[in-house]
Amino acid sequence: MRRKIVAGNWKMNKTFDEAEDLLFGISDELANNSPEEVSIVVFPPALYLELANDVANENNFFTGVQNISEHESGAYTGEISAAMISSTGASFAILGHSERRMYFGETDAIIARKIDQAIKHNITPVYCCGEVLEERESEKHFEVVEKQIGQALFHLTKEDFSKVVIAYEPVWAIGTGRTATPQQAQEMHAFIRKVLAAKFGETAANETPVLYGGSCNAANARELFANEDVDGGLIGGASLKASDFVKIANSF
Ligand code: PGA
Repeated sequence: MRRKIVAGNWKMNKTFDEAEDLLFGISDELANNSPEEVSIVVFPPALYLELANDVANENNFFTGVQNISEHESGAYTGEISAAMISSTGASFAILGHSERRMYFGETDAIIARKIDQAIKHNITPVYCCGEVLEERESEKHFEVVEKQIGQALFHLTKEDFSKVVIAYEPVWAIGTGRTATPQQAQEMHAFIRKVLAAKFGETAANETPVLYGGSCNAANARELFANEDVDGGLIGGASLKASDFVKIANSF
């Protein structure tokens, strides 16, 4: 059975005290309502990882980061390496998020190197792909996503690919309140699985978790997660409120 995952991308939000409140809030909510067979992952700003790891370890959830360096170590001021992240006990990294692509010039080639770093240091990459509105409107969305997947993931061996999680995040749905319909999500997720099967085989494709992201919230998660090929969500805005986030995790 494929792993179900609900992941919270906090982005650049929360001061230390607020982060503490949110983490303890999640732990309280989980004490009352902990989903079975769902991996919960929080992605706070990296400087709160130690705190997040402590709370996560006690409450059976996981932590990750929103970015890692494409380099191993050395003179890269301001960067954080995969080895550093791994040494804190965090085990996931969001890579290829559209905000990193748009605002920080990350190309698929850069993202591919980040994925290699993550895998090398036992961090599960959550690889984000998805089209912008214009590409959807001109019906290029399948082509765009296929290309993103090919360029960032197809250099991997089958064994390394088995460690990857994919998040389909249509850019027009991120932070906009405009969610993909369950049909649009299912259609793209099934397509992604087909692309993966052609490269890595049916078994690998069937075992890869494919998450949906983009204005997924406590009100619409259930109908999105009900689809055969939707294995959970990458949640931005709605992950900043503990009760909403845990409700989403209980929406299977
Ligand atoms: P959103 O963000 O849920 O706020 O749309 C999702 C994401 O960017 O991962």
